Amino acid sequence: MNYLPMDDLLRDAQRRGYAVPAFCVWNSDVLATVLRVAERLRAPVIIMASKFEFALMTPAMYAGMARGIAGHFSVPAALHLDHGPSLEMVRECIDAGFTSVMLDYSARPYDENAAALRQVAAWAHPRGITVEGELGHVGKADTITVEGEGDSTLTRPEEAVRYIEETGVDALAVSIGNAHGTYTCLPSFDFDRLAAIRAATTVPLVLHGGSGTPDDDLRRAISLGMCKINVATELTAAVRTALDAELNLKNPRWLPHSLTLAHEAVVPVVEKWIYLTGAAGRA
Ligand code: 13P
Repeated sequence: MNYLPMDDLLRDAQRRGYAVPAFCVWNSDVLATVLRVAERLRAPVIIMASKFEFALMTPAMYAGMARGIAGHFSVPAALHLDHGPSLEMVRECIDAGFTSVMLDYSARPYDENAAALRQVAAWAHPRGITVEGELGHVGKADTITVEGEGDSTLTRPEEAVRYIEETGVDALAVSIGNAHGTYTCLPSFDFDRLAAIRAATTVPLVLHGGSGTPDDDLRRAISLGMCKINVATELTAAVRTALDAELNLKNPRWLPHSLTLAHEAVVPVVEKWIYLTGAAGRA
């Protein structure tokens, strides 16, 4: 399988009324496991890397690893830069063969955000690469997550229309009460706001901070236009719990074996999100 432009996956989801789960994938074990589960459930998926994955591997190394593993599967998938922090990193990922990029300037003033995303679209679109922007800002629900700086600000529907027109983004991440990390109390989504954004725009919408969202809220958000659901914390939490248990064994195992077993803990999380988003059986 070759990675597809993310827009291909999202447009199919938009047309058929489901969402594509997008998983933050920090290494090759997680990548192979996500694709294995997706293949078994015939579900399209989005593989996401962020700057934290590029501490030990460059974007080119990551993309090479991702392509090598994808060659063993046939399920449709996209390779996406999540929360790109700079134009330089976006450029590097485009050159490395990512099929979708996000530049996250959502904590900056509107004009700076829009101008930078316009530049990203000018680089990406001639190469068939999808562009995700964020307007309004999705903050953090806890102190562990590395995504979302500072407090949330909600997306304004009229500003979303202008932003999409001015930038040409293919997908828009919106802030409607969602947050990254583990919710300490249940989120309260502003569904009226989401409906107003949906009514005023046509691009697929993206929900960041998928972990911990109550099932009913998630389904309602999808029915109101969310086509991509980002998930990280539930994956990391499952691996952390499994790894803690492994490392506390009285008779410790060989570390690579323990890591492999711990990474298997992502399987039920990936299955859950594939079913919850309605992506199962769509590929
Ligand atoms: P969670 O960690 O809350 O699942 O959010 C992930 C995310 O939005 C990645 O962009």
